[in-house]
Amino acid sequence: MFNKQSLKDANVRGQTVLVRVDYNVPIKDGQITDDLRIRETIPTLELLEKKGARRIILISHLGRPKGEKKPDLSLAPVAERLKDLLPERKVFFVNDVSGPDVEDAVEKLPVGGILLLENLRFFAGEESNSSEFAREIAESTHADIFVQDGFAVIHRAHASTSAITSELASIAGPLLEKEVTSLSKLITNPTHPFIVIIGGAKVEDKEPLIKKLLPLADKIIVGGKIAADIADHQVEDLTKTVGNTDKIYIASDFVTDESGAKLDVADASIKEILDLLSSAKTVLWNGTLGLVENPDYAKGSTALAEYLGHHPEIYSVICGGDTTGFVEGLQKTDSSLEYGLISTGGGAALELLCGEALPGLDSLDDK
Ligand code: 3PG
Repeated sequence: MFNKQSLKDANVRGQTVLVRVDYNVPIKDGQITDDLRIRETIPTLELLEKKGARRIILISHLGRPKGEKKPDLSLAPVAERLKDLLPERKVFFVNDVSGPDVEDAVEKLPVGGILLLENLRFFAGEESNSSEFAREIAESTHADIFVQDGFAVIHRAHASTSAITSELASIAGPLLEKEVTSLSKLITNPTHPFIVIIGGAKVEDKEPLIKKLLPLADKIIVGGKIAADIADHQVEDLTKTVGNTDKIYIASDFVTDESGAKLDVADASIKEILDLLSSAKTVLWNGTLGLVENPDYAKGSTALAEYLGHHPEIYSVICGGDTTGFVEGLQKTDSSLEYGLISTGGGAALELLCGEALPGLDSLDDK
């Protein structure tokens, strides 16, 4: 059960609401290349409007500027995307996070207006979890209440995830609530058969997750570079390092390039993987099965995404930026593909699944 106070139950009529979102989106040459994290906050902004919030102030980080103002990491392009996504709403941007410019922008904000502040990580106080920095934001924005909706950053103890909660009443936003509830169910009470699919490049990144989920899952399927490295004896066989060999399937048939590098799972493994999924009721997929940036090596991941997307009886959870980006790319050409949850969280989702502490969640007001 979700045990934090929730925006869904709160009365914010007439209030100035400070909302932590995670707009840490990939930007190339000034263009946002994946806006999932922005789109996923739209229901929250709509809920705030419906509840009669007077002003909405959004705060986020972008990239890792380490306390320096780096123009290429400004959130200004995100404000533009928000305007496109919310043509009916008044969206503004101010290139600071506290002080007179912010106070001025807040004062001028029309009723129901949305104001996005600049990248929090342009200031050292964000990552050092400075109380003073958090207080300056709370005071400059004249916020009445804080809503944490940046699910993807709740594994960090920063000013906007931790210190700010000592300044204001702090409740959970609907995106955070949805993600925490859905992902927590996987590690507490998944509907069986529960199958976990792990791909991606680094076995050391995925081993804690595999170890945590092994007792809960009915099968763990391993593909991607991890399976290729095991086949090439570059890394130790997972069945030896984590034990419980019966539950682990490791892909062994690969598509190779001219140099012999194994870059995707091939037909025999794809068939075996899909056969293993035939009885699944819950699937967690983290990490692509091949080098999907190159369409020649995306066949395994495409087959898997299509299988899951066309089997609504399977509750499928997709997490990890590469995997969610890939699946969303397919959805653009095939809108019939549907999933239980496409998570906005990378590290946060993995840390939740591994049972790690989540400061941005723990610090919110209890029910
Ligand atoms: C993410 O992309 O995982 C989050 O936005 C957190 O970013 P960080 O790893 O730079 O803290």
